[in-house]
Amino acid sequence: MADGSDKSWILMVTAQSPTNIAVIKYWGKRDETLILPINDSISVTLDPDHLCTTTTVAVSPKFEKDQMWLNGKEISLAGGRFQSCLREIRSRGTDYEDQEKGISIKKQDWEKLNVHIASFNNFPTAAGLASSAAGFACLVYSLAKLMNVKEDQGQLSAIARQAHLTLQGSGSACRSLYGGFVKWAMGNDPNGSDSIAIQLATEAHWDELVIIIAVVSSRQKETSSTSGMRESVETSPLLHHRAKEVVPKCIVQMEEAIRNRDFPSFAKLACVDSNQFHACCLDTSPPIFYMNDTSHKIISCVEKWNRAEGTPQVAYTFDAGPNAVLIAKNRQVATLLLQKLLFYFPPASETDLSRYKLLRLCFRVSFAWLAFLYLEISYLIGDKSILKEAGIETMKDVEALPPPPEVKDNIPSKNAGDVSYFICTRPGRGPVVFSDEKALLHPETGLPK
Ligand code: DP6
Repeated sequence: MADGSDKSWILMVTAQSPTNIAVIKYWGKRDETLILPINDSISVTLDPDHLCTTTTVAVSPKFEKDQMWLNGKEISLAGGRFQSCLREIRSRGTDYEDQEKGISIKKQDWEKLNVHIASFNNFPTAAGLASSAAGFACLVYSLAKLMNVKEDQGQLSAIARQAHLTLQGSGSACRSLYGGFVKWAMGNDPNGSDSIAIQLATEAHWDELVIIIAVVSSRQKETSSTSGMRESVETSPLLHHRAKEVVPKCIVQMEEAIRNRDFPSFAKLACVDSNQFHACCLDTSPPIFYMNDTSHKIISCVEKWNRAEGTPQVAYTFDAGPNAVLIAKNRQVATLLLQKLLFYFPPASETDLSRYKLLRLCFRVSFAWLAFLYLEISYLIGDKSILKEAGIETMKDVEALPPPPEVKDNIPSKNAGDVSYFICTRPGRGPVVFSDEKALLHPETGLPK
């Protein structure tokens, strides 16, 4: 380790990792310890500018124990899985030398150095938006960079797959080690060595897609994915049929659809897969309900529109929660989608009345710009420019939205407040390392800034 005389140095790495949304779902493990899935899955990585985790990891001879802070709060690292993840990475660390700072770390030193970790999500952790996928990918990626691990992304994805903190964790984190379109191959090896993430295409390959997420409920998930999928594996015959007979064919077709940027096939496969995953949840005993009425209304809105157009415009997919992830085939379709969504699900509700009143007050005293700002801030986050493109600049524009033509004979009621907010994003890049200026830990103390 450094020359032994100076123990004040701190070595740190800051990285940012994206989250991902599966279009062919992972649901069910064949090995709970190694986190080996019962089928392949495919995901789209979401733009980290809108949804990501930033993590700083640091080592120093002066750190007395391993410590971690998540969104500013210290959390326990007692979980065996976290320790085994750390052990895996430490054992793969290689020699590190920085003569200027007087740091020289030998391979065998990594296990003697304690780590400090600070992690921050740029989106609500409790929104059920696969925050753990971004989190664990970021943890593994930044620790690997810090410890000079030479393994490629595929091998790192195998560690990310198994990274669990206390009871939370995410096998799907392995797909966040790449940008664009990613497959998690289930593998055959009983020791899990070939259960890794593989990039199918970069985000640039299909950059027309626009993703709008409707955050339906900000409450914590009721049944965690981990226990939900365990119960499905134990009790759902449909899940086993899906894993054995359905998914293998869909994976081949989805890979082809992505390769050819074939939106109709992509959308059909994604919607069918999401519905089948939720059917497996219903087939579980006792049944698991992740979607709610709002989720069903969103499905029906998209299905009606797609049918009216004669070819899919938008794909929908739902994870283990009620939030809808809607993938529009291009920007123009996304603006139409947003108009429809805002028609059905305008902001405000009984409980949001103050927000509504504030908006109305703004208009009454001609602070339309303030109202717009408020609408922008509170009801659509991410790529906010889409609001303007959809011609929605004020609350009045929302109120004036016409009913979607495909429902003109049977106009459904509006569902104000059923969607907490929307996020507009697109396919994005994989993890990146940031300069120390963006570190979440103080360079001198190694404590959160
Ligand atoms: C529905 O990766 O969160 O989002 O491996 O048990 O931690 P564990 O589960 P997790 O499950 C994700 C399930 C899903 C589908 C998917 O992302 O493929």
